[in-house]
Amino acid sequence: MLSSMSHFAFALLFLLQAKPLAALPLLQAPVSAEDLKAFSIFEQYSAAAYCPNNTEHADRKIRCDNESCPTVETAQTRTVLGLSEAGKSGVTGFLATDQTNNQIVLAFRGTDSYKNAMTDIDFFITNSSLCESCGVASGFSSAWNESRVLVMSILNQTKTKYPLSKIIVTGHSLGGALATLATAELRKNNVSVDMYTFGSPRVGNSAFANWMTSLPPSLGKSYRFTHMSDPVPQYPSTIIGYEHISPEYYISSPTNQTVKAADITELKSGESWSGNRQWFRMATADHGWYFGNITACSDGAAYPFPMGLGNLKGYGPGSIVTDSGWRSTDFTLPPDLNPSPGSVSTAPP
Ligand SMILES: *[C@@H]1O[C@H](CO)[C@@H](O)[C@H](O)[C@H]1NC(C)=O
Ligand SMILES: *[C@@H]1O[C@H](CO)[C@@H](O)[C@H](O)[C@H]1NC(C)=O
Ligand SMILES: *[C@@H]1O[C@H](CO)[C@@H](O)[C@H](O)[C@H]1NC(C)=O
Ligand SMILES: *[C@@H]1O[C@H](CO)[C@@H](O)[C@H](O)[C@H]1NC(C)=O
Ligand SMILES: *[C@@H]1O[C@H](CO)[C@@H](O)[C@H](O)[C@H]1NC(C)=O
Ligand SMILES: *[C@@H]1O[C@H](CO)[C@@H](O)[C@H](O)[C@H]1NC(C)=O
Ligand SMILES: *[C@@H]1O[C@H](CO)[C@@H](O)[C@H](O)[C@H]1NC(C)=O
Ligand SMILES: *[C@@H]1O[C@H](CO)[C@@H](O)[C@H](O)[C@H]1NC(C)=O
Repeated sequence: MLSSMSHFAFALLFLLQAKPLAALPLLQAPVSAEDLKAFSIFEQYSAAAYCPNNTEHADRKIRCDNESCPTVETAQTRTVLGLSEAGKSGVTGFLATDQTNNQIVLAFRGTDSYKNAMTDIDFFITNSSLCESCGVASGFSSAWNESRVLVMSILNQTKTKYPLSKIIVTGHSLGGALATLATAELRKNNVSVDMYTFGSPRVGNSAFANWMTSLPPSLGKSYRFTHMSDPVPQYPSTIIGYEHISPEYYISSPTNQTVKAADITELKSGESWSGNRQWFRMATADHGWYFGNITACSDGAAYPFPMGLGNLKGYGPGSIVTDSGWRSTDFTLPPDLNPSPGSVSTAPP
């Protein structure tokens, strides 16, 4: 009985993972040296969101311990918002101006705490007003909903002060899911945003994926990177109705190896079997390596539940930060973002 059950389970698994007979056509737009440079800079911005110095304060230049953002460190940057374990979901990240590259960057950190892990496992699809029949993961949706009022308000004030700066939204892992939802809302409001995500899980259903994918290019470019057998982009499963946005930028070079332009393939379909989805073997190390060690500022907890469970931090009340950058008269803090035990820091743009 047990044996026939396991054969059945194996057959089912194989069926669900089997490649379709006709492979989808690849769109092999070559990656230029300039593209590669931009990809690497935004990967570093995502890496910077793991470094507490950038998220527990505002009014600071972006710096990373463990050398995970060397190019960003050469730019003239300044944070105007830092979120650290904010709200019930523990949203963490920053909004910064980058005057060297004429851009405003919103970056979200991936899973690094118990609050984040609880956000990750809440993958029931909840209705979304983004589009007709749109549904998104309940956990990601509540996390973004908790932070959106504050983030949107400060982003708006920053863009008003720097009208010629492009808006970039980026993030790794859970941070990629939050970046996707933030981008979706901005584009829905007719704000043009370029998005760069690294190892993002699936965020919503096919209506959401199709809507996001079909938005006009004038609303910004979407780069969703996956790396080798990174397991995170394979969750939550298509079996329960999830679908990736398109395209996928698949990085085929191994962990710890410098990524060259030729290692990146643009796959037209977000659910192509030629990219990350081809892998049965899952290597958590592939989640941590994009254009460099993207989680270098994390102490090894930067994996979603249950992979990083042993290392997750509780962020007890001892980590409350009251920052001189925070001026409560400048901004009204939404009640959902009561930072205890995390922190919210702002500086006028
Ligand atoms: C981060 O902040 C700590 C404490 O303020 C400081 O010692 C450290 O040098 C900072 N790291 C970077 C890369 O700026
Ligand atoms: C979600 O939307 C569908 C179709 O519009 C509707 O049938 C369903 O009741 C909604 N679910 C919730 C939880 O609102
Ligand atoms: C989103 O947040 C607002 C408060 O900012 C709250 O009233 C609303 O219920 C939340 N919506 C969801 C779907 O969680
Ligand atoms: C800022 O708010 C104004 C007024 O609501 C809106 O028209 C504009 O698109 C917003 N800009 C951004 C960048 O959110
Ligand atoms: C959206 O923004 C573009 C460029 O900023 C503008 O030309 C267009 O009229 C806007 N559309 C709407 C519906 O607001
Ligand atoms: C990558 O390099 C780090 C540090 O040198 C090492 O600890 C790790 O095992 C390497 N990972 C892989 C998959 O080669
Ligand atoms: C990345 O850095 C973290 C923290 O130093 C380390 O635990 C991890 O092994 C590194 N990963 C790789 C692939 O080098
Ligand atoms: C840098 O990496 C080490 C492990 O190599 C890790 O213990 C340490 O926490 C990292 N530093 C920061 C600031 O995250």
